[in-house]
Amino acid sequence: MRRLGKERRGGSGDDLVTRLVTPNADGEALTFQEAGSFFILPVAAGNETTRNAIAHALRLFTEFPEQRRLLMADFEGRIAGAVEEVVRHSTPVIHFRRNVTRDCELNGAPLKKGDMVVLLCSSANRDEAVFTDPDAFDITRSPDPHVGFGGPGPHYCLGVHLARREVTVMLRKLFTRLPDIRATGDPDRLASSFSNGIKRLPFDFTPPAPDA
Ligand code: HEM
Repeated sequence: MRRLGKERRGGSGDDLVTRLVTPNADGEALTFQEAGSFFILPVAAGNETTRNAIAHALRLFTEFPEQRRLLMADFEGRIAGAVEEVVRHSTPVIHFRRNVTRDCELNGAPLKKGDMVVLLCSSANRDEAVFTDPDAFDITRSPDPHVGFGGPGPHYCLGVHLARREVTVMLRKLFTRLPDIRATGDPDRLASSFSNGIKRLPFDFTPPAPDA
């Protein structure tokens, strides 16, 4: 991005990069550094998260076959709840950090300006004060007030609608074109405190043997 930005700043092209790094009528433009960060967001935030959510979905629907039967009995009616529950149960983004900008108190804990705090999304998504039987994967959970797409506020996932659509389309295609697709072993997990990633997940889509 830095290289592209340098090449295109001030150019006459009508492409996105030129627009972002060339001052507009008000003299505003992104720095090369800002343009880089701007692109990391949709590329990393919108890629890892969604594909991990989809891999987790295959794992979860294999582990909880009754939930899969429930989904397939009324796919269009239940997929929206299923996507939310996949994101809650798997929580593809484990945590985010915040800097405290003013002295305040959160749930009785005093916080000082300059403190760093961590939002543990995985923990919040299994909060037994909020979710009944939080370890259960239940696609009919309603309401499902998870924080898998971030907490309320300005940093709430910008790509949430695209993410929901991607997971929906993928599961619709996968489960109708390959109705026997299932995970056949444990996932090879990414060693990360940030991304609940799956590096590899063995699977099969041939019909199981009759006595299996
Ligand atoms: C299942 C898929 C996804 C999950 C679980 C997810 C999760 C999250 C979370 C937890 C945050 C909050 C970050 C914070 O609190 O600072 C966030 C922010 C964000 N997400 Fe997603 N995301 C997903 C898909 C996407 C997609 C598809 C895109 C774009 C193509 C995207 C773009 C963003 C961006 C740009 C932000 C930053 C918003 C801001 O700080 O203003 N995400 N996402």
